[in-house]
Amino acid sequence: MVSVIFPAAGQGKRMHAGFNKVFLEIIGESILLRTLRRFSEVPAVQELVVVTGTDEVAAVRRRLSHVPGLKPLKVVAGGSERQYSVWNGLRQADPQADIVLVHDAARPLVTPKTIEAVIAAAQEHGAAVAAVPAKNTVKIVKDGIVTETPDRSTLWSVQTPQGFHRDILVAANEKAEQEGFLGTDDASLVEHYGMPVHVVMDSYRNIKITTPEDLIIAEAFLRHENGGVRGSLRKVAKRAGAHLSGHCQGKDG
Ligand code: CTP
Ligand code: MG
Repeated sequence: MVSVIFPAAGQGKRMHAGFNKVFLEIIGESILLRTLRRFSEVPAVQELVVVTGTDEVAAVRRRLSHVPGLKPLKVVAGGSERQYSVWNGLRQADPQADIVLVHDAARPLVTPKTIEAVIAAAQEHGAAVAAVPAKNTVKIVKDGIVTETPDRSTLWSVQTPQGFHRDILVAANEKAEQEGFLGTDDASLVEHYGMPVHVVMDSYRNIKITTPEDLIIAEAFLRHENGGVRGSLRKVAKRAGAHLSGHCQGKDG
């Protein structure tokens, strides 16, 4: 059984909406609901655990209970850091789940294909993350001076979903809590304790909606998915996408 934890308890400060950005609508539907629908399309997913701000739990539960077509759902309260929100969600997820996925509620463009690939990799390897090769050159900077330029061919931008055997993620969170270790993503807790984490090739479309311009990009991607972009442009993008996945297949895992 697969449970999915959705951290959605942030404040969306960089979005400057004045409220939690996951409630913003894109083409008439909230980011949160769009994300939940994507996971509800995947047969292996059996439980959705939405983690919101403490004062949002009741309203979100009420609102989502009326939505047809969603997988069985729990709404629970989060914490002051994303890691604490995930840990709260994990403790309240069904203990029968053998695989747990963590997915940012702010990534509504994830595809069933990526979700299924992360589930399969987590089942096989114990821990897996969706990621894309870095497009930009990344530099290490100290006090305004470049100290290093890591080889770009080894750099990946890590996204979500991130998937784990439940026991591994629980153990990593317990240890992190004991040590007061705060990681930057879920996999970093597992890495911190020396476990290998496998990489699953994702799509560059699976963006995290963070700043206002991301809303424009997400809307364009959604319209494109629905055939709203001119045919020729769609063909070019499709060809480019096919080329990319073919080209990078060897780097998977
Ligand atoms: N999140 C969470 N609990 C927190 C902080 C973040 O559940 N204490 C969630 C967010 O709701 C979001 C995901 O983690 O779905 C990724 O975080 P981020 O993009 O940073 O969202 P926010 O923290 O809301 O945004 P900001 O950092 O701009 O305030
Ligand atoms: Mg944040």
